[in-house]
Amino acid sequence: ADGPTAESSDELRLRSGPPPRVVDVDDYGAGSNGGCDDTEAFLAAWREACNSTDYRSMFLVPEGKTYLLMPVTFRGPCRAISITAMIKGTLEAPSNRSVWLDRNLQEWITFEGIDRLHVLGGGTLNGNGQQWWINSCKLNKPMRCIKGPTALYFRRCTHLVVEDLQVRDSMQMHVAISYSWNVLVSKLFITAPGWSPNTDGIHVSNSKEVSISDCTISTGDDCVSIVSGSMFVRVTGIFCGPGHGISIGSLGASNSWAHVSDVLVEKATLQGTTNGVRIKTWQGGHGFAERITFQDVSMHNVTNPVIIDQNYCDPRKPCHEQGSGVAVRNIHYRNISGTSASKVAISFICSEAVHCDGIVMQDINLVGEGRHTACSYRNATVAQLGYIFPFCSVEM
Ligand SMILES: *[C@@H]1O[C@H](CO)[C@@H](O)[C@H](O)[C@H]1NC(C)=O
Ligand SMILES: *[C@@H]1O[C@H](CO)[C@@H](O)[C@H](O)[C@H]1NC(C)=O
Ligand SMILES: *[C@@H]1O[C@H](CO)[C@@H](O)[C@H](O)[C@H]1NC(C)=O
Ligand SMILES: *[C@@H]1O[C@H](CO)[C@@H](O)[C@H](O)[C@H]1NC(C)=O
Ligand SMILES: *[C@@H]1O[C@H](CO)[C@@H](O)[C@H](O)[C@H]1NC(C)=O
Repeated sequence: ADGPTAESSDELRLRSGPPPRVVDVDDYGAGSNGGCDDTEAFLAAWREACNSTDYRSMFLVPEGKTYLLMPVTFRGPCRAISITAMIKGTLEAPSNRSVWLDRNLQEWITFEGIDRLHVLGGGTLNGNGQQWWINSCKLNKPMRCIKGPTALYFRRCTHLVVEDLQVRDSMQMHVAISYSWNVLVSKLFITAPGWSPNTDGIHVSNSKEVSISDCTISTGDDCVSIVSGSMFVRVTGIFCGPGHGISIGSLGASNSWAHVSDVLVEKATLQGTTNGVRIKTWQGGHGFAERITFQDVSMHNVTNPVIIDQNYCDPRKPCHEQGSGVAVRNIHYRNISGTSASKVAISFICSEAVHCDGIVMQDINLVGEGRHTACSYRNATVAQLGYIFPFCSVEM
């Protein structure tokens, strides 16, 4: 499960050569209007940066200033051979939900259809999501369930680099990578309160060769979630907590076909999360999740450190065993240690229709926070090598 290497020859080439053409958003009127909408200025600057023929360009958001951005899409293809979006300042989202609801939008800042885009600079994106959280049907049962916007969305980008940014308080997901290829994400600092609903850190879908490294993620949902259509994904050096852990899935909802393969999660630290490393698939789905490795993971007071749930179904409906499921096979857990907040340190609940095949565990040590821990499995083949605590047995 090897992802792309940290420094490709492409990148070295992009760092040398003549200096890029710099397009400063302030030169297009941004930041001068005292808290008013800077979106048009940003779009005008983007058109200029994107249209720098046969040149490298830099879209610059200067340091020390705050800009208000409405939902906006920065679109390619560009004539520039590469674009660096250098975000040093702070971007603020409007807190009023009608901005999205009135236009039925589900994204705040989107980059779409761009080759060789680098987004970096140490700046901050603030989603100001409080109004979304308090009106969420998860926290407030009588409210209608509405999908909230993702703060930073990348769609159909190739040779994408995203690094050194702070993304906070998103309305829902913080960063989404979709239909993209050859992606390096690193040094992101993502924060939202532990109680904020559905605020995933980094969400990967339908993307290939994605590397996510050295990020700190503290939110109210999955720190990293990887869903269907994703292959060759490497997640390394993640600190996660609070949050729901690192998750593959859910896959196969509404009888759909799903496929995730060749995922490596390593050198993760999970602190006080509800799950540690999880694979979750729906009953009635099709397809497979395979060749997934979790290694060198350290858990601190995690409620369900290691979990496969192949029987997931809608908690609001009765859950009948269905005749199909997403196959789960060749899953490796190596060198996983730390503490479990609950008795169930490890649980593999697989379906009768499609077993979990080829689970290999090696060098596991998950002790309780002052209580015993257990490992159980159902409808799975599990090999246990090296030191294993707690030892796994078939659920009776
Ligand atoms: C892009 O640049 C070309 C000339 O190089 C110009 O004709 C065209 O109008 C520009 N497009 C935009 C969207 O600025
Ligand atoms: C939000 O925007 C809508 C429509 O533009 C407006 O009617 C409403 O008063 C605003 N709400 C707040 C709290 O500013
Ligand atoms: C096991 O994982 C921990 C991190 O949780 C790491 O520090 C240690 O070096 C790993 N051990 C081996 C033998 O790789
Ligand atoms: C462990 O987690 C549980 C539940 O998440 C929490 O109640 C408890 O205070 C935590 N213990 C420590 C030592 O952090
Ligand atoms: C699946 O697991 C259950 C519970 O352990 C067991 O009763 C059942 O026989 C298993 N089904 C198959 C097909 O192995």
